[in-house]
Amino acid sequence: MNNAEIVALCKKHTIFEWAVQGAVDPIPVARAKGVYFWTPEGQRFIDFNSQLMCVNIGHGDPRVVKAIADQAAILAYVTPSMATEPRARLGAKLAELTPGDIDVFFFTNGGAEANENAIKLARMATGRHKILARYRSYHGATAGSITLTGDPRRWAAEPGIPGVVHVLDPYHGIARGWDTAEESLAMLEEVIQLEGAQTIAAFILETVTGTNGVLVPPDGYLQGVRELCTWHGILMICDEVMAGFGRTGEWFAVDHWKVVPDMITMAKGLTAAYVQLGAVGMRRGLADVFKDKVFYGGLTYNSHPLACAAALATIRVYEDDKLLENAKKMGAVMTRLMADLGRKHPSVGAARSIGLFGLVELVRDTAKKVPMAPFNGTSDEMAALGRFFRQEGLYTFVRWNTFFTNPPLCITDAELRDAFAIIDRGLDITDRAVI
Ligand SMILES: Cc1ncc(COP(=O)(O)O)c(C=O)c1O
Repeated sequence: MNNAEIVALCKKHTIFEWAVQGAVDPIPVARAKGVYFWTPEGQRFIDFNSQLMCVNIGHGDPRVVKAIADQAAILAYVTPSMATEPRARLGAKLAELTPGDIDVFFFTNGGAEANENAIKLARMATGRHKILARYRSYHGATAGSITLTGDPRRWAAEPGIPGVVHVLDPYHGIARGWDTAEESLAMLEEVIQLEGAQTIAAFILETVTGTNGVLVPPDGYLQGVRELCTWHGILMICDEVMAGFGRTGEWFAVDHWKVVPDMITMAKGLTAAYVQLGAVGMRRGLADVFKDKVFYGGLTYNSHPLACAAALATIRVYEDDKLLENAKKMGAVMTRLMADLGRKHPSVGAARSIGLFGLVELVRDTAKKVPMAPFNGTSDEMAALGRFFRQEGLYTFVRWNTFFTNPPLCITDAELRDAFAIIDRGLDITDRAVI
């Protein structure tokens, strides 16, 4: 099929996510390799968002493809009440990679289900019902996870599940900026006091917030959250669906601050999205609660052998190709390239990154830091920037007044510079709007 046929038939018979169906304009994709993908008619794109911040090892890795094919030939599926070698090996491997005594895993199909099961585990283990979550967050689109989500994607799903209380983040948008760790922790402590600590099962937070702004917490914040949670018997759940698996230059973002949450949720980079898989990792003590108590949870595709085999092969690629080291090294280059953009382009209001997890915030007024598009909205300039990227063969996520810089972790110095050269030219468009 050609570009137009694929798009027309997809639009006729399938629904696109988070979109007015009549307005979608998808890129048709035929194949992908490394940091690139191509349309059926041969236009090449550099994938500067690893698709949905998930294809961390790059596209089309033959080692993962072979592992999937081999597993499919031997055993594609069994009921999750049975035990398989890929499941056994993956649980043991993740226990090695995850921090502290996070040792036990429940496998799901993706991130939302991982978070659903994390809050279920928290409620069952503590006997408490409330869950704290933050406003600038995304935790998935299922009933519970969308209620945990603080960003505007939650609104259409309200009232959602009972018992979820949102708290403010240390970040308040480009104009108001950041609280210190102490200020933010004091606000959190006040919410805990007002809600009643004895009613709160868990606090779920993205360690480094993803779609809501690549928000790297101020030093001391995560350690403070850990202390508050421990003091009040509240379980700390770190959602690392996006931040995990090398994106920040460490296996998990919590490793930067040496914090061990009670649960860690993951998906995306776990298999680099070659096959869908998510997981909740939990500390040994929490898992032990269910030694003599039923865990009321299940999924037909829990511990899917094909997905577990894909995850094992993907983790091997991270290790063999030293992708965490590359993320750190290329991350340092990216930080410098972002700083160059900031110096050159008045529309760059802020640029931040950790490893290969980056974002640029654009402003139309440099003194007052007025965002180039409003909260939850767009503007002519942001739309024009998005069109420019597409026309120049750079794929990334353009959202509100921001765009993302999240390439696969295998990216080379030359590929990174090529992408930034396109961004550099694109920012002339937004610079013209600066007053
Ligand atoms: C931080 C975070 N949590 C959860 C999810 C939901 O994962 P999934 O789409 O696999 O259900 C996402 C997806 O983008 C995410 O970024």
